[in-house]
Amino acid sequence: MTDDQLTQLAFAVQQQAYAPYSAFRVGCALEGASGTVYRGCNVENASYGLTMCAERVAIGNAVAAGERTFRRLVLVSDAPDPVPPCGACREVLAEFAPALEILSLSPAGQRATWRLDQLLPHRFELETGRGRS
Ligand code: THU
Repeated sequence: MTDDQLTQLAFAVQQQAYAPYSAFRVGCALEGASGTVYRGCNVENASYGLTMCAERVAIGNAVAAGERTFRRLVLVSDAPDPVPPCGACREVLAEFAPALEILSLSPAGQRATWRLDQLLPHRFELETGRGRS
């Protein structure tokens, strides 16, 4: 899928954001190795702390569908400048795609790109000796 197509999907799912507390809507499109795209928006909660970020919703959708390898993430938000994923989402994305390519866009279409290992050097990792189940 092209960057533009992924961007359109991210802006479309941003409209579904449930963000009554922050009024800050986030949407993302995560492209799996199979070519399937998984979308996510933020889902807030009255407790605040139980809020789910768009990126973690997308990862959950993907893993539940059986996809665990990813190529790219396109992220959009209401911020005037392109935002990177928050720290918690960096760890969760890195679990599956430590070198994920990330494109972030502002509402006006300003772009920024990063690779996840730039944003999260020295991620937390457990060497369990167990296979991935
Ligand atoms: N948010 C995301 O969805 N992704 C991020 O990477 C950063 C923050 C959401 C959480 C909350 O609903 C709102 O943005 C304000 O923090």
